[in-house]
Amino acid sequence: MMNEHIEKILISTEEIKAIVKRLGKQISEDYKGKKLILVGILKGSVVFMTDLMREIDLMCDIDFMAVSSYGGGTKTTGRVNILKDLSAPIEDCDVLVVEDIVDSGVTLNYILKYLVNRNPRSVKLCSLLDKPSGRIVEVNVDYIGCTIPDEFVVGYGLDYAEKYRNLPYIGVLKPEIYS
Ligand code: IMP
Ligand code: MG
Repeated sequence: MMNEHIEKILISTEEIKAIVKRLGKQISEDYKGKKLILVGILKGSVVFMTDLMREIDLMCDIDFMAVSSYGGGTKTTGRVNILKDLSAPIEDCDVLVVEDIVDSGVTLNYILKYLVNRNPRSVKLCSLLDKPSGRIVEVNVDYIGCTIPDEFVVGYGLDYAEKYRNLPYIGVLKPEIYS
């Protein structure tokens, strides 16, 4: 069982629900009258994205990008490659990037600059988790679900070596799993 690989639960299913509701409500107020497009960053954001979009009471589009910066480990390699680009132009759109976690900031810093270059009306960032202790480059996170300490977490979309994304909560892996 996956549960046996988890040292402790950091954010429970119920807590996640409340966080997503709060963010959806705030986004619904802030984007009234705007041309909102949610851009989820694959694959980590998918679980969060599908819940968050249903808490947003506005007409909106969705799109996805896939990038890679982690070579299967728990620390960033500092290099970002685009594996999947947007499927439509974002000119005149109000882009809200949806991410699972901002750690070093390298991935988001790259993605935000890339999107700004495509002439949207605005670009903002919504991240379920923020790990400020890991920051290498500055990133402004406009909507934060929860700030977490310097621990490697999995679940609710977040993976370790592509596993544990389907856990319904966010937990800390036992160190022996990745050491
Ligand atoms: P950054 O470029 O270091 O900010 O990393 C962003 C990406 O690294 C996220 O989208 C995650 O996929 C991954 N990541 C960073 N920290 C964690 C973690 O604690 N657990 C799982 N994935 C993480
Ligand atoms: Mg990942």
